[in-house]
Amino acid sequence: MAKIVLFENIHPSARAVFEAAGYTDIVTHAAALPPSQMHDALRGAQVAGIRSRTHLDAALLSSPDLRVVGCFCIGTNQVDLDSAMQRGIPVFNAPFSNTRSVAELVLGEAILLLRRIPEKNARVHLGHWDKSAAGAFETRGKTLGIVGYGNIGSQISTLAESLGMRVIYHDVEAKLPLGNARPAGTLNELLEQADVVTLHVPGGKSTENIMNAETIARMQRGAILINASRGTVVDIDALHAALKSGHLAGAALDVFPTEPKSADEPLASPLIGMPNVILTPHIGGSTQESQENIGREVAEKLVRFMQAGTTKGAVNFPELPYLEPAGATRILHVHRNAPGALGTLDNLMAQHGLNIVSQTLQTKGQIGYVITDVEGQVDDIVMTTLRSHPITVRCDRL
Ligand code: NAI
Repeated sequence: MAKIVLFENIHPSARAVFEAAGYTDIVTHAAALPPSQMHDALRGAQVAGIRSRTHLDAALLSSPDLRVVGCFCIGTNQVDLDSAMQRGIPVFNAPFSNTRSVAELVLGEAILLLRRIPEKNARVHLGHWDKSAAGAFETRGKTLGIVGYGNIGSQISTLAESLGMRVIYHDVEAKLPLGNARPAGTLNELLEQADVVTLHVPGGKSTENIMNAETIARMQRGAILINASRGTVVDIDALHAALKSGHLAGAALDVFPTEPKSADEPLASPLIGMPNVILTPHIGGSTQESQENIGREVAEKLVRFMQAGTTKGAVNFPELPYLEPAGATRILHVHRNAPGALGTLDNLMAQHGLNIVSQTLQTKGQIGYVITDVEGQVDDIVMTTLRSHPITVRCDRL
């Protein structure tokens, strides 16, 4: 039975999934290990589970038994994905597990900002009892403008409607409207109608500073801006100016163009100390529930790969869905993506008397991945022949 090594205090929900699938050789580490200890820690492991602090470079990925990596988080840039692919190692992550956590935070912030709670809270702490309804509004009947109607944006859409908000959205792709939400047309059309604007787009060049002096000026006077997507999406100086002038009534930011690298480093931002501005340390997706969901989501993907070769959702690999076993033995073959590779593999199998029951191929970039179900058992000699052929990157038998 495969050995599984989990680093960085991965949630026990992962272990529960592995154990339910029959895996008992599970080693857990409470923290990331220093690079010098990683080779030893990975010895004999077929499955490695990490979070964001463990870096898996080409040398560590060449650990002889390693078959698959699970990133129990969203990001995967701590793994040399290209090297992993070249070695036939799929890498999985958890892109959806914290969607609900972000959605709840955003709606909570919308409620608090519309009521001007951040500044009222600060005033009471300072000994002031300013009891007033001025500038305080319900969310009911207000228009929420969602920029980026993907996993998080669409989840917020349904939750906001349950509060009685009117939901409009803008996305660069055509998206199915959920509930009574409706597309707003252009970004500017959305900005002109919304009482609260919330951003849920990816980072990168195409979304850099989409909220700038010009677009913020399009927002209604007294509107609120929330950003829990990526720090580069909002021009902070333009936001600062709009809050200072009173054009915007409030803002909540969970992400920043430059974020502190450690707990001791303070955030540098002109927004610090501003009333009715909520600043949080990139914790939109950080809840106990999301950690538990991540543990389960990634562990399930790893088990599916180990037991059936399924690579759906892998970030660096040709994606093959779960395929019901059709023969006595399943062979997972990763090869260099070249014309005729599948023919070569099938010839090799035929030469060794293997009768194919079912076969599925997918290619991506430099590699191809084939799941083949064959009749009968496949002995070690045949496996050695398949593994040693020049087209083969990796070959495993289930
Ligand atoms: P997603 O990929 O499901 O959705 C993004 C949507 O934005 C897609 O529908 C896409 O078509 C759309 N889009 C792309 N460019 C656009 C543009 N210029 N204008 C309008 N729409 C555009 O992503 P998901 O999972 O909903 O995440 C959204 C953002 O939230 C990402 O930036 C992600 O990194 C961030 N995030 C932040 C967390 C936090 O802790 N604050 C936690 C999880 C995600």
